[in-house]
Amino acid sequence: MTSPGLSSASRFSEIEARLARRDLKDIYKADLPTPCMVVDQEIFEANLNKMAAHCQKTGVKLRGHVKVHKSPDIANRQIALGAIGLTCATIAECELMSNAGIGGILLTRQATSKNNIERAVALARRDSTFATVVDDPLAAEWHQEAAGAENVKLKMVVDIFAGLSRHGIEPGREALELAKQVDRAKNLELIGLMGYSGIAAHTKGWKERMKRSRDDTAGLLETVGAARGAGLPVEIITGGSTGTYNIDPELKGLTELQAGSFVFMDTIYTEIGSKNCDEFYGDFGMSLTVMTTVISRRHPHQCTIDAGNKALLRPTDQVKGRPEVKILNQGAEYGILAWKHGDRDFKLGERIEIYPSNLDMSTNVYDRYYVTRGEQVVDVWPIMGRAGAAQR
Ligand SMILES: Cc1ncc(COP(=O)(O)O)c(C=O)c1O
Repeated sequence: MTSPGLSSASRFSEIEARLARRDLKDIYKADLPTPCMVVDQEIFEANLNKMAAHCQKTGVKLRGHVKVHKSPDIANRQIALGAIGLTCATIAECELMSNAGIGGILLTRQATSKNNIERAVALARRDSTFATVVDDPLAAEWHQEAAGAENVKLKMVVDIFAGLSRHGIEPGREALELAKQVDRAKNLELIGLMGYSGIAAHTKGWKERMKRSRDDTAGLLETVGAARGAGLPVEIITGGSTGTYNIDPELKGLTELQAGSFVFMDTIYTEIGSKNCDEFYGDFGMSLTVMTTVISRRHPHQCTIDAGNKALLRPTDQVKGRPEVKILNQGAEYGILAWKHGDRDFKLGERIEIYPSNLDMSTNVYDRYYVTRGEQVVDVWPIMGRAGAAQR
């Protein structure tokens, strides 16, 4: 089972040392420890190029969400293709990306702890392009106090409810009052409004999705009109997702898209249906798999793999090339693949790739992406700030 170019006993330490110095010649998927995350470079690049071309054509800018990848390598590739910055769910992600030299970061989850607000202010001191959101007048006050104490100007976006009840102030009068409060605050700078229509993102059927997106963003767009009418500076209107990337520009409102999942795609997203009425949503390809090894096969029509709870294996995941195979979790380090007919078997030691169902969760339990072209490993990207203190 030895791959060409690498020899014998100390193979694994040799591979680790070579990965560390990015000497990847003759390293193959077969050499990798499993379970591990594998990115198909060709599909991944096609996804990035497609979104970049879409943004160029429609004039909507990309400020892509990083929570699905947590990788400065991926963020930098999006910036190189024209993205204007990044959206992050946590202050730790913002710090990670800022430390990697990336600007135009928007924190999309309201900070309310002293810890998070002070870190947001510290980021704004270092990088004047950093912005954050509020959906509550009290949180706006806290941000003003913290920014005032440091004599820093903090860019601020008012987060407006767009169908997802977890965040966002009611559109209309309440949102307008909050926008005015931010605009008046000495150390805050109102730059725009946000509305993340997260339910629309996964609504099945393109027409249904379009309707849901239109309904859920109507309040946001009305508030934009009211805010502009009141003379408030609304430079950016931010929201959108992988599921609505080709809907939002048609609604004529958003200036930027926060889509994130399109870089990898997952099995749940592929089921939302596409614009040409297919049930399969194939606008972007599934570029990320969890590679596993068959470790036992003692029973007919099933085999055991080395990915289980710790690899976040789920029944909604899919085996690459074998969509009919059922996936069952069997404990921390075990999974089962089961199939009905005996004619297409899996062999002991075989490598099997699995498409995950929830990218954010899966990438959170690995520490690197192995980037591949065919069987060859061509790059390794660390997944940073993915767990522990560095994540919070
Ligand atoms: C606020 C916000 N914006 C954008 C996104 C990205 O959406 P998607 O990964 O569906 O493109 C998310 C994902 O949950 C989000 O929470």
